[in-house]
Order: sequence, then C-alpha cells, then structure tokens
Amino acid sequence: MLLKVEDLKKTYLSGKVIVKALNGIDLEVEEKEFTAIVGPSGSGKTTLLNIIGCIDSTDSGKVSLDGKEITNKTSKELALLRREYFGFIFQSYNLIPVLNIFENIELPLKLLGKHSKKEIENAVLKILDEVGLNGLEKRMPLELSGGQQQRVSIARALVKKPKMVLADEPTANLDSKTGEAIVDIMRDMNEVEGVTFIFSTHDELIMKHAKRTIHLRDGLVV
Ligand SMILES: Nc1ncnc2c1ncn2[C@@H]1O[C@H](COP(=O)(O)OP(=O)(O)O)[C@@H](O)[C@H]1O
Ligand SMILES: [Mg+2]
Repeated sequence: MLLKVEDLKKTYLSGKVIVKALNGIDLEVEEKEFTAIVGPSGSGKTTLLNIIGCIDSTDSGKVSLDGKEITNKTSKELALLRREYFGFIFQSYNLIPVLNIFENIELPLKLLGKHSKKEIENAVLKILDEVGLNGLEKRMPLELSGGQQQRVSIARALVKKPKMVLADEPTANLDSKTGEAIVDIMRDMNEVEGVTFIFSTHDELIMKHAKRTIHLRDGLVV
C-alpha cells in the first residue's frame, strides 16, 4: 500500500472559533492510481492533501507511506520526505516569476543535489517535450497562458520522478477545455511513467477523467 490514512482529524482555530476541517478520514491509495478527491468548497480537500504531502500537521490519526508512519516525524524528516516522495501542482501554478521556464523546472532536481548539470538539462528538456512545451524553455512564466503555466508546473512536479503527485484543484483557474487538456496530460503521465496521482476538484467534467473518485463532505469520506 503506497498511502494509508487512518482516522485523520484536523481542526483549525479561526479567531476564537474552532473549525473542524477533517473529522476522521480513512483512505487507502495503491501505486499507479489516478484518483480524484471530490467535494464542495470547505469540505477539507486542501487540508487532506497538505497533510498527505507533509506540508501540514495532523491533530490525530495516522498517515503511512509505503507502510512507514509519517505522522510522528520531525519537521526536518518531513522536509526530506516531501522532497523525495512528492510532486505538487497548485491551482494558481506557483511558478517563480523571476526564473524562466527551464529554471523553474530544474529547481526540484537541483534541490535534490543528486544529478549532474547535463543530466538535469536532459531531464528538463525531455519533460518539457512531454508536456508539449518544446522550445519555450527561455520564456518567463508570465509570458505564458494559464494552461501553459500549468503544463510547466506539471513538468516541475514530475521532473524528479516522484512516487506521488498531489494536485490541488489544478484546473480551477482554467477554462473547461484547457482544464480537460491538463488532466489528460496528467493521465498520460500516470499511464506512461506510472506515477501515482491524487488530485482534487469540484468540476464534474474533470472528475470524469479520474480512474477512481473519493467524495468528501464536511471533512468525511462519503
Ligand atoms: N488555515 C486555516 N485556518 C482556519 N480555518 C481553515 C484553515 N484552512 C482551512 N480552514 C477551514 O477548514 C475547512 C476545510 O478547508 P479546506 O481544506 O481548505 O477545504 P477545501 O479545500 O475542500 O475547500 C474549511 O471550513 C476552511 O474554512
Ligand atoms: Mg481547497
């Protein structure tokens, strides 16, 4: 089992009000899945993905990756796991505006510190080609359309060949046709590279492209 989530609970303090974001989530994800987390705004999608991706901590419950519990790790250990296990794709792309496309995509590989300059260059050019952005490596993020920027962020998430890609509403800022094209690219990557994808959405058109859907409501799987 690649990912196992058991009775996950999370509350936030919003001013003086306690907000229950997750109320006891149980979830199992196998390798090579292409799974959508579907639910209305406020149902806990972002919170769940952030805890799985070691970006946020949990109040109680367990998350295990490859059978190893991560919920009791230190923040330093979590940072390492995050770097090695996960690629992230966000609704608003989160590209670094002062770096060109090539530099944005190479960043995760540079941070890993395991590859030569030439290996990095080859990997970046290959993945750029796979997401259909051949020849755009010198452009700056803001010179690209939203759909192109999201392709860059898919490339950035995949360039280090992570075990799992977590994508939080990756199509929410795109028109429906572009959004569907983006999920298609993710699905190709899932099929060709065997990377596991978990992505959230509340869009019916987008959830149709998933191989499995998990519905969330009020912090629970329904
Ligand atoms: N940092 C935060 N502080 C306070 N409340 C939060 C915070 N993050 C999320 N919440 C609340 O937790 C609930 C779940 O939010 P979220 O996980 O963002 O849902 P979704 O991504 O499905 O819209 C919502 O009620 C939201 O307002
Ligand atoms: Mg969200």
